Amino acid sequence: MAAALQTNTRLNPINVVPGRSLTNPSRAPCRVRCAAASPGKKRFNIALLPGDGIGPEVISVAKNVLQQAGSLEGLEFNFQEMPVGGAALDLVGVPLPEESFAAAKQSDAILLGAIGGYKWDNNEKHLRPEMALFYLRRDLKVFANLRPATVLPQLVDASTLKREVAEGVDMMIVRELTGGIYFGEPRGIKTNENGEEVGFNTEFYAAHEIDRIARVAFETARKRRGKLCSVDKANVLDASILWRRRVTALASEYPDVELTHMYVDNAAMQLIRDPKQFDTIVTNNIFGDILSDEASMITGSIGMLPSASLGVSGPGLFEPIHGSAPDIAGQDKANPLATILSAAMLLKYGLGEEKAAKRIEDAVLDTLNKGFRTGDIYSPGNKLVGCKEMGEEVLKSVDSKVTATV
Ligand SMILES: NC(=O)c1ccc[n+]([C@@H]2O[C@H](COP(=O)([O-])OP(=O)(O)OC[C@H]3O[C@@H](n4cnc5c(N)ncnc54)[C@H](O)[C@@H]3O)[C@@H](O)[C@H]2O)c1
Repeated sequence: MAAALQTNTRLNPINVVPGRSLTNPSRAPCRVRCAAASPGKKRFNIALLPGDGIGPEVISVAKNVLQQAGSLEGLEFNFQEMPVGGAALDLVGVPLPEESFAAAKQSDAILLGAIGGYKWDNNEKHLRPEMALFYLRRDLKVFANLRPATVLPQLVDASTLKREVAEGVDMMIVRELTGGIYFGEPRGIKTNENGEEVGFNTEFYAAHEIDRIARVAFETARKRRGKLCSVDKANVLDASILWRRRVTALASEYPDVELTHMYVDNAAMQLIRDPKQFDTIVTNNIFGDILSDEASMITGSIGMLPSASLGVSGPGLFEPIHGSAPDIAGQDKANPLATILSAAMLLKYGLGEEKAAKRIEDAVLDTLNKGFRTGDIYSPGNKLVGCKEMGEEVLKSVDSKVTATV
């Protein structure tokens, strides 16, 4: 089973990722588990890509929660853990080894930690850890990035905004992930006719790329509160003029969804001024990247926000929106909840297992209700815990829910 979005677009054959083989490195790169299927259980292959920094810490916690919630709903997971990013660079000299990509591509869903770190900051661009993310997103063709930003009642005080502004915020940002200025050509750094260096990138969107992400957004809004705000810069950018025209044309197919448009500079301001006005936002790659980080701070911490990246077919990619947080890596300080909630999105959007997803979401709320907090969301009166203990508490809540419902 795989993440699938209803669009009119057909997939092309996947590109081959350039990379060195893992079959011949000096050290054994990964652990592969192949459990025998138990009768009566649904079985899924999950690719785990822990990555760098706090990635392995949060993935190890989220894996246990995923396994437990799944097993309580009759699901069995075959986990395959593979190196990506800096970890892969250290092992075989490329950020996304062929075997890692193949394992991801052949899985039912992918759970990724985070990528990057100081150690590789001065690498040449094609040898930077973050290139693994670009290759994965591009070659898995996961064009739709869903980023929910919800202010949980338990964490209103962790928001940087006033209680009355933050309370009740519940939005979904739908970001286009495989097009726009991050992938557009021409791009580069060259010397112009005056002998001066110039850097340039291209914001590029084809009509079909806009249509397919707009459809995902209309469908998403339809299942929420029926309000869609399309964010662009149509007063300046030609690509945005086309974006607005295509999104507007599609609106007639979704009469139950109220469509509005907003310029990105205004959207950045409105997110801070009155975030409750937003239900679903659809926007391009670069605006979505920036606005979703902004939205994360409204919710209290970047350590709380999960994401799902989905294509027309094939496995979805599920990951927290934060990076590898090298400043706290290896200190058991990371908040694992964004990754745990990404595991819930994996169950819901990747495998269609809503009940198991709900178990995880409820367990996270339960753990917060009990007052457990990592440093990034701590406020006086609560219990400060590390990454591992937070994971253990969520596991206990997953279990106790079962006791209550049996
Ligand atoms: N998807 C990804 O893998 C991804 C995303 C963004 C950045 N990066 C990479 O991560 C590295 C660090 O980037 P950055 O510092 O700009 O962003 P970051 O998200 O790693 O960290 C920003 C700040 O938030 C804190 N933070 C992040 N996640 C947290 C968590 N789960 N719990 C508690 N605190 C948390 C960090 O300690 C840091 O102070 C860079 O190499 C960057 O390229 C990777």
